[in-house]
Amino acid sequence: MANFFTSSIGKKLIMSISGFFLMVFLIVHLGANMVSLSGAENYNAVCHFMDTNVIIQIMVPVLALGFAIHIFYAGFLTLTNRLARGNERYAVRNSGKASSWASQNMFVLGAIVLGFLGLHLYHFWAKMQLQHFIGGTATENPYELVTGLFRDPVYAVLYLVWIGALWFHLTHGFWSAFQTIGVNNNKWLPRLQALAKIYATLIALGFAIIPLFFLLGLDK
Ligand code: HEM
Repeated sequence: MANFFTSSIGKKLIMSISGFFLMVFLIVHLGANMVSLSGAENYNAVCHFMDTNVIIQIMVPVLALGFAIHIFYAGFLTLTNRLARGNERYAVRNSGKASSWASQNMFVLGAIVLGFLGLHLYHFWAKMQLQHFIGGTATENPYELVTGLFRDPVYAVLYLVWIGALWFHLTHGFWSAFQTIGVNNNKWLPRLQALAKIYATLIALGFAIIPLFFLLGLDK
C-alpha cells in the first residue's frame, strides 16, 4: 500500500482524483458567486447559508484537505519527475501533439493559482466563514465586501489575471485527469480535450464576469 502513494501511477491517480474533486467545487462555488449578480439580498442569504449550514461546515475541512493533497502531490510529482530526468530536462523538449504549453507549465500555473488563492481567502473567507469557525465577528454585509473590492480596478484586474491562469491550468488538468483514470484511446482523447476547453472557458468566463460586472458599475 505504501508503494501506491509513491509509485508513479499512484501519484498521478491522487492528482487526478483530487483534481476532479476541485473541479466539482469550482462549479458549486461559481453557482454561489453568480447569485451576487442578482443583488444584495439574495447574495447575502447565500453567504449566510454557506456560513451556517452543517453540511457545508463539514465540507470545508474536506475541501481544504482536497487542496492540500493536490498541492502536495503536485510538488512531489514534479520533483520526482525532475530527479528522474536529471540533466535531460533542457536537452529534450517534448513537442508532441498532446503536450501543450499548459501541460508543460502545470506546476507554475498551479503555483500562480495558489498564490492568488491565498490573497482571495484573506479578502473574503477570513472575514466570513473563518469568523464563524473561530467565534469571531463575520462581516454583516458580504455583498458590500465583494462588490467594494471589485470596484477597485487594481483588485479587479488581479482577479482577472488569476482567472486567466486558472483557465490554462484547467484546459490541461481536465482531460489529463480523465487520461490518468484510463480514458485515453484515440477516439476519446480529442473529445476530452475539446470538452476541457469548454469546461475551462465556462468556468473562467463565469468567474470573470463578476469582477467585470461590478468594476463597470453594471449593478447601478
Ligand atoms: C469572481 C471570483 C470569485 C469570487 C467573487 C469569490 C468569492 C468568494 C467568497 C465571498 C468566499 C467566502 C465564502 C464564505 O466565507 O462563506 C470565497 C471562498 C473561497 N473561494 Fe472564492 N471567489 C471567486 C473565485 C474563486 C476561485 C477561482 C477559486 C479557486 C481557484 C476560489 C476558491 C475559494 C475557496 C477555496 C474558498 C474557501 C472555501 C469556501 O468558502 O467555499 N474562489 N470565495
